[in-house]
This record gives sequence, structure tokens and C-alpha cells, in this order.
Amino acid sequence: MMQTTDHTSGQHWVNYYKAVEGRPPRETLLKALATFDSELSPKQPRLAVDLGCGDGRDTVELLRRGWRVIAIDGEQKAFDRLLNRSDLHRELLEPQLMRFENLALPNNVDLVNASFCLTFCPPDCFPSLWQKVLTALKPGGRFCGQLFGDRDSWTKFPNRTHHTHTQVETLLQPYEVEWLEEEEHPGVTAIGEEKYWHLFHIVARKIA
Ligand SMILES: C[S@@+](CC[C@H](N)C(=O)[O-])C[C@H]1O[C@@H](n2cnc3c(N)ncnc32)[C@H](O)[C@@H]1O
Repeated sequence: MMQTTDHTSGQHWVNYYKAVEGRPPRETLLKALATFDSELSPKQPRLAVDLGCGDGRDTVELLRRGWRVIAIDGEQKAFDRLLNRSDLHRELLEPQLMRFENLALPNNVDLVNASFCLTFCPPDCFPSLWQKVLTALKPGGRFCGQLFGDRDSWTKFPNRTHHTHTQVETLLQPYEVEWLEEEEHPGVTAIGEEKYWHLFHIVARKIA
């Protein structure tokens, strides 16, 4: 039977952070980083924004590779855990407690990473968020992460954002798509809830 956990509660996110503790960086991030590694290295560290960073499975990897990282999450407990990680290289990290609904991003960002979090942006705020990501990225910069599909079982929550395949293609028009994979199957979440997954895994380069 499908459960209806309140994903907006702080306790839910603490349970999630505990369940995924120690897991490796997301495949979308690793693919994007491999593509950056094949390009000329800049003199200064590259800048990434990690949206919905959680307790930092992707942030930690970016910092380990010498990136500057603005790590954004709406949940203070994410930072309580991230900042206490023993594998954290803290010097180039800027943690920002900020909700997607009020997102503010700097310019000249090389990478916006958004792993498994954009469904939690309320639908009326998503177009503005997506435009802010595009504006923040420098030409040749990349977006990587997931968008949630219209057959995902979380569409039952009215405050979630989901997209059809056609809508995803439209959102990606200002980008050269480097990787787009659609995933769809019954499964469970990290905390063991039954769920039907419908995801788009994306790595895309902003057209110069
Ligand atoms: C499923 S977790 C993903 C965490 C991490 N990116 C990962 O891949 O494991 C989603 C994250 O989004 C954050 N989040 C949810 N709603 C948010 C909102 N409206 N604004 C900012 N962050 C939010 C949660 O606090 C949580 O850390």
C-alpha cells in the first residue's frame, strides 16, 4: 500500500539523511564532472550550486575535487549534518539556508546540480526557479540532476512539480542535452516507502 508521509517535516528529512548516510555522489553529477574534466581547466576553482544539497553526498564530492560550492537547502538539519561530516573540505563551501520558493543565485555559475529535489519546488514557483538556473549559468555551464515525471506516484501531492517528456524537452531547449535518461518503475524510497518512480536524469550544457 502507498504511504502518505509528510515530506515537508524536518523529521522526515532527518530520517532521509540517516537512510542515505555515506552513499556515493549521484551518477548525474559524476557524468557532468567527467565532461568538465575533459575540458580545459580554469585558473580559478570552478563554481557549483548544489540545490537541495541535503547532507551533502554531492557537495562533498565537488569540494573534494577542488570546486567552490554554494550548497542550498531549505532544511537547517541538512547543514547540521553536512557541516559535521568528517570527509568535508570546508574551505570552499558556502552553505545557504534558502527555500526554492525564494531562490537567489549568483551569476557566472559553472554547474547547477539538483539531485532528486526539484519535485519539492511548488509548481507555481518552478518556472521562476528554472529561469534563475538558466540566468545563473555562464555560457557553456551545465545543469545536472533530476526532473520528476508525470506518471510518478508523487503527483498525488498538489505541491509537487512534475513534467511530461514533452515539457522536459521544452525546458531543455536553451541547453545542449548531453545525457537524458527516462526511468520508470515501481520501487521504494530511501526510507522504505513504496513508490512508483518516473524520473528524467539530465546532464545539459547551456548553449553559448
Ligand atoms: C530527496 S532530498 C535530496 C538530497 C540530496 N540532493 C540527495 O541527492 O540525496 C531533497 C532535499 O531537498 C530539500 N528541500 C525540499 N523542499 C525544499 C524547498 N522547498 N526549498 C529548499 N530545499 C528543499 C530537503 O530539505 C532535502 O534536503
